[in-house]
Formats: sequence, C-alpha cells, structure tokens
Amino acid sequence: MQIIRRVSALRTAVAALKTGDKSIALVPTMGALHAGHLALVAAGKDRADHVVASIFVNPKQFGPNEDLDRYPRRETEDVAALEAAGCAIAWLPDATEMYPPCFVTSIGVGGATTILEGAARPGHFDGVATVVAKLFNQVRPDIALFGEKDYQQLAVVRRMAADLNFGIDIVGVPTVRDPDGLALSSRNVYLSAEQRRQALALPQALHDAAAALRRGASARTALAAASNAIVEGGFDSVDYVALHDAETLAPLETLSTPARLLAAARIGGTRLIDNLAVLPD
Ligand code: PAF
Repeated sequence: MQIIRRVSALRTAVAALKTGDKSIALVPTMGALHAGHLALVAAGKDRADHVVASIFVNPKQFGPNEDLDRYPRRETEDVAALEAAGCAIAWLPDATEMYPPCFVTSIGVGGATTILEGAARPGHFDGVATVVAKLFNQVRPDIALFGEKDYQQLAVVRRMAADLNFGIDIVGVPTVRDPDGLALSSRNVYLSAEQRRQALALPQALHDAAAALRRGASARTALAAASNAIVEGGFDSVDYVALHDAETLAPLETLSTPARLLAAARIGGTRLIDNLAVLPD
C-alpha cells in the first residue's frame, strides 16, 4: 500500500492504478478506524479493482465548540489497518495540502442540510460537502462508500454528487454495531465504562420507536417516548429524535412510506448519533 501526502503524487499513483481501465473505490474517513470503516473498505474491494482510503480530520466540518482538538488521531494504527484490509493507497493530506492559505471556496448543498444534524451543527454539512467534493476531484473514483451510520451525510453526498454531475456511484454501507447494539463510532472512545453501558439507551429507544410505529403509533407519540427513554437511560439531553422519509429526508407524521428514525443525544461531553430503517407494512 502506498502512503501519499501530496495531491501531485496522488494523481500519478491513481493514474497508474487506473491503467487497463481498472476501477477505483474511494473510502473517505477521518481516521480512528474501526470495523465500520473496514466494512466500507471491504465493500469497496467487492465493487472495484482498487480501494483508495483517505484519512483527514476535516476542520471545516467541526463547529467552534466541538471536538476537533480531541478527535482521536491514530495514524500508525490506521495505516496498518488499511494495509491489512487491502487498500492500494492511503491518502493522508495535511490541513495545508487540503486547504492552502488562499482557499476560500465552500459548497452549500441546501435542501436537507439545515435540518437534524444541520440544525444542531450549523455549517457542518458545508464542511462535509466541501471536503468530499475535493476528495472526489483529487481521487476521481468510480464509486465512493459512506456509512449509513451518518445517514444524513450519505443523503447530502448523494444529492451533491448528482447535482454537480460527479459521475461517481455513491454506495451506502449498513451500520456496524457492537454485539449489544451500540453503533460503532470513533467517538465511542470518549465514553467511560458507565456511559458506554448507558449509551445503549439510544439504539434501544430507536428499536422500540420502530416497533411502536409499526403497531400504528403516531410519530409524535413514538418519538416522545423514545426521547424520554434516552434521557431515563442516562443521557443528559436529546438534540432530536425524528422520523423522516428514507430518501428525501422530509419529516413524516406517520409511517406512510419507507422511513428512517434518526436521533442525536449527549452523554457527558460526548454527542452520539444513530438511525434505523422503518418500513410500513
Ligand atoms: O464521515 C466522515 O468520517 C467524514 O464526515 C468524511 C465523510 C470523511 C468527510 O470528512
């Protein structure tokens, strides 16, 4: 596996990989890799000849009071994991390579970027869209893989890729969970043993809300019960628990179409998100 830190070297290396019409999958990450990221690499290997994985903790998608400084950075372990997973290139730009001092462009996708995560984290999706567009242009992959764990991000990237004619197939990969149901997240390392136990209230509440919706409960009732259960389970606060159309992310009042339950809640200084598919009968 090649470890590359400069755009110019990346272009040469990717061009060599593409020789003979070989296809490229891109797995964008912020590092602190876990089995969820490696599932993206595996899905990329299934669908393309070569996988390029990027590691870049993107400052533009963190708000002023968020965890940019303490976000886990484990380059040596991450590079070893990508190599073992069979990546062809680890793309590791630093902040100056990604955003030279003269950099001023920002991509605003609009639409669903102002609700849910976008409402709780103003500017977050502009930062995500900007760096993902840059990664797309740097690597020029045939496909790019994103986890369903960040379901709204997946929807925003799909919208941007279609709207801007990137010609890249955006593939969503199901969330990987610990055996007890907690979604894998690089932020889970922030949790104490007690908080890790309490964090299970989040997937459990989504699971119970999905069951209530399928039994005919209104979204209002099911979501209020979920929000209470998350706080009773030990979270300090709930940013949102919501039911949205699985494709358009329009808010839903009843389970009338394939939907997604989405939630974000805070425990100690840690903010966790999760989501679950819910299908009408
Ligand atoms: O999901 C992430 O890790 C990040 O938001 C991404 C897609 C790598 C962009 O920085």
